[in-house]
Amino acid sequence: MANPTIEPAGAAPPPPKPKPSVAQALQKIFSKTEDEDEAKTVARRRKFVMAAVLGTLSLNLLMFLRFFFPRALYEPKTKFRIGYPSDFGFGVDTKFQNQYRIWVVRNTEGVFVISAICTHLGCTPDWKASENKFKCPCHGSGYDPEGVNFEGPAPRPMDRAHVEIDPEGQILVDLSHVYRWPKGEPSQFNDPGAIIRL
Ligand code: FES
Repeated sequence: MANPTIEPAGAAPPPPKPKPSVAQALQKIFSKTEDEDEAKTVARRRKFVMAAVLGTLSLNLLMFLRFFFPRALYEPKTKFRIGYPSDFGFGVDTKFQNQYRIWVVRNTEGVFVISAICTHLGCTPDWKASENKFKCPCHGSGYDPEGVNFEGPAPRPMDRAHVEIDPEGQILVDLSHVYRWPKGEPSQFNDPGAIIRL
């Protein structure tokens, strides 16, 4: 049987492959460029979709974590202890002015706490020990050592905070409950809770 792969001697060589025309070559180049562009576009779309998915997941994760950090306003405490009545000597004690915006006053009747807010427009007056008075730096209102106004535009004495003795014997101040002396009205400064009588 004759081997079909062996060409018989004297057979003509295979015809040369036809060279591609210029148009075919250009078409090949352009179709290659188009393929590359399409690949790039697909890759760009993939990246965009991935970024969108990751963004959404991150947002959801943040919203989930938000539950563990409840919205809270860190306002100053309105109820706090300031020590024992014996910690305060006669006169005005300003040591809690910055922390709680109060002054502690001790006189012959007892201990009370003045809210350090000017009753004119709410500035914080200064204690002038040498002049034995509180003086408001804003519009000049003056108050005596018990917080009673005597000069300037302040319409009434400064308010006093509720005070009581806690089970340990310390003074507990509650700034959410104040005692007032409105102009032309009876004073609340002798109400129970306005002063700790000693
Ligand atoms: S706010 Fe104090 S005098 Fe006006």
